Amino acid sequence: MSDMGERQKAEAAYSPGLEGVIAGESALCQVDEGESGLRYRGYAIGDLAERATFEEVAYLLLFGKLPTRKELQDFSAQLSAQWPLPGPVEAFIGIVPPRAHPMDILRTGVSLLGMADPEAAEHSHEANVRKAVRLLAQIPLVIAGAYRLATGKRPIQPRPDLGFAANLLYLLTDRQGDDAAKAMARVLDVSLTLYAEHEFNASTFAARVAASTLTDLHAAITAAIGTLKGPLHGGANEAVAAMLLEIKSRDRAEGWVREALAQKRRVMGFGHRVLRKGDARSGIIQRQAEALSRICVDTRWYDIATIIDRIMQQEKGLHPNLDFYTAVAYLLMGIPRDLYTPVFVCSRITGWCAHVIEQQDHNRLIRPRAFYTGPPPQAYVPIDQRT
Ligand SMILES: CC(C)(COP(=O)(O)OP(=O)(O)OC[C@H]1O[C@@H](n2cnc3c(N)ncnc32)[C@H](O)[C@@H]1OP(=O)(O)O)[C@@H](O)C(=O)NCCC(=O)NCCS
Repeated sequence: MSDMGERQKAEAAYSPGLEGVIAGESALCQVDEGESGLRYRGYAIGDLAERATFEEVAYLLLFGKLPTRKELQDFSAQLSAQWPLPGPVEAFIGIVPPRAHPMDILRTGVSLLGMADPEAAEHSHEANVRKAVRLLAQIPLVIAGAYRLATGKRPIQPRPDLGFAANLLYLLTDRQGDDAAKAMARVLDVSLTLYAEHEFNASTFAARVAASTLTDLHAAITAAIGTLKGPLHGGANEAVAAMLLEIKSRDRAEGWVREALAQKRRVMGFGHRVLRKGDARSGIIQRQAEALSRICVDTRWYDIATIIDRIMQQEKGLHPNLDFYTAVAYLLMGIPRDLYTPVFVCSRITGWCAHVIEQQDHNRLIRPRAFYTGPPPQAYVPIDQRT
């Protein structure tokens, strides 16, 4: 075919940002804008959020089925067997620069966990599942350990009597035991379920590209963490909380959002590349955030959020994504704002690892083409003749 024919073919195939492109297969989750919105291995997200714990969801993603009670008990025991962190990772947490971003700490921490992993040189499916379980158990310890050290809080270990979400809440906020802490832990559990998996989003795709070279699982997860940090992806939940804190009171909300739109600024927590008609997960976490606001007798953030939501839908036809009302819930829980994206990692590690394992089980190197937009062919000019 002529160069022109090749170019026309490339032009027709090209989709900026890979929008709408089917870039691979996966049996892990189905994203659709229909009734269920999202399914993990066939199970509707609404059922999982309402009826399962995050540990059951993590098991479903990593092992391919919902656990029996005995399997769940064994899984919980496997998780708690990974505490405390390996010595080199504890030592690293003690020397991170004081102003380091928690996502950067996590990226390096996961890389170090890879070097310290007892099966570092083993890349079988089974070894990768075991590595995934270790990461799931240890990532909260890296985040909380570094945060507590940087803020002068006494170091604590997770408690075997608490579930995954309750432990995460305890490690990050010291809350546990009372009714408010129990309600918060349940909302956090739901948010972890909602964050666990979302097919070929940017960070998961980054992990799959890395995994397709047959690099190791920790290397692929490190790539994913770096990708999730960006404000157009996981960083959005932190940005939403910053916005709510800046707005401060419900009477300022409408003016603030109208001014942002007039200045053509992006309002964080709205819009989605795939879910143009709304995100089922957002409705679920909105209900949780509203209920928690009442339990905490503090509806300030929820009230501001609903005003922004109304105006964004009216003015731009844009719907809130999962990050929007999650920020309301995390503000109420007292989770430090720069830990919102790391908390997202505590959950998405399950989806990422399941994707890395799936990619390597049926591997084909991911190597797309670029649409060339540079200069036409040029004659080489020797250095002394260049102007
Ligand atoms: C998620 C996101 C990156 C998807 O982007 P996308 O598919 O590339 O969509 P585009 O950036 O092409 O946006 C399409 C239009 O909607 C507008 N838009 C999209 N999201 C917007 C937002 N959050 N606030 C204001 N306008 C927005 C864009 O300005 C654009 O308008 P225009 O056509 O008049 O220029 C985008 O919606 C966004 O930046 N959202 C805020 C960040 C966020 O919440 N990220 C978490 C995602 S789960």
